[in-house]
Amino acid sequence: MVNLTNEELKQTIKEIVTVGKGILAADESVKTATKRLVAINTESTEETRRQYRNMILTSPGIEKYILGVILFEETLSQKSNDGVLFPEFLAKLGIVPGIKVDKGLEDINDKDEQITTKGLEGLGERLEEYKKMGCRFAKWRVVYLISKNTPSDEIIEINAQDLARYAKVCQEHGIVPIIEPEVLIDGTHSIDKSEEVNEKVLIKVFEALEEEEVDIKTLILKTSMIISGNQANNRASVDEVAKRTAQLLKKVVPPELPSINFLSGGQTPLEATAHLNRIHTLGKEFPWNVSFSYARALQGPALKVWQGKDENLLAAQKAFIFRAKLNSLATKGKYKEEMEEEV
Ligand code: G3H
Repeated sequence: MVNLTNEELKQTIKEIVTVGKGILAADESVKTATKRLVAINTESTEETRRQYRNMILTSPGIEKYILGVILFEETLSQKSNDGVLFPEFLAKLGIVPGIKVDKGLEDINDKDEQITTKGLEGLGERLEEYKKMGCRFAKWRVVYLISKNTPSDEIIEINAQDLARYAKVCQEHGIVPIIEPEVLIDGTHSIDKSEEVNEKVLIKVFEALEEEEVDIKTLILKTSMIISGNQANNRASVDEVAKRTAQLLKKVVPPELPSINFLSGGQTPLEATAHLNRIHTLGKEFPWNVSFSYARALQGPALKVWQGKDENLLAAQKAFIFRAKLNSLATKGKYKEEMEEEV
């Protein structure tokens, strides 16, 4: 007998893993979307958030560079300016709609750490609803703050288990899980520290996935690069970030994983593109597809141009497509800094 769920998972992986394309994260929660809108002097309402999503998602030519979009729950039932539900709009372009399913961060101890425990309860039922609305993959994000006493072993363990449980439930429902263990860039830490923490985190995550019997072949890893803290002195070069990132991933990520899609995590758009590109020009062979799943590094320049105004819509979409195109080139090691002048 054919296992239908497994067939669904395999088909989705086929559609969201393609060399030269990536996954767009457009899954800002209401709180985060509000932050983005306030930064461009725009009030955050259900309608302005819809306009924000419309600006990004209906950018002409998006399907040339993006093959999956992670959406936020509110966006699933919103429509484009032409009156088409966003998941339907994307699917018509051949872009697979996905959904952020964690319910955000929660403080659990007094060490300034946070943990994304929210969202596991009732996850299976929610997935069924999201599936009816067209979603075929999901994302769950956990974070690790680097400071003197963090991340603790306790957080590393709990987050790994949560990611594994979430991934298992997704696969049981025919939804491809993206797991996002994000080691935050915030702080003064060195690249050595970033490497040490990422290694510990990823080892625990893959141990937990194995214990939970998650199928690695139908799972995507969305991870951080090995990078100095954003307030560190003498931050590591593009070359160093690329080398350390590639080295660590080769050491700890099972070869049967289909794709690693990086988060941008507060890198500037240019840094995020340059790092991804350099990873591909190191001359190393990777067993997995290596691409992007950026939010800020793809959308940031477009938001700045847009300023919440209709008259800026086309120029903003052009800015978005420009970054999508450069990141697509970066996944093939074909990006050059001079291209930044072309816009
Ligand atoms: O959860 C975070 C997003 O999926 C990725 O966002 O590229 O701005 O870090 P970012």
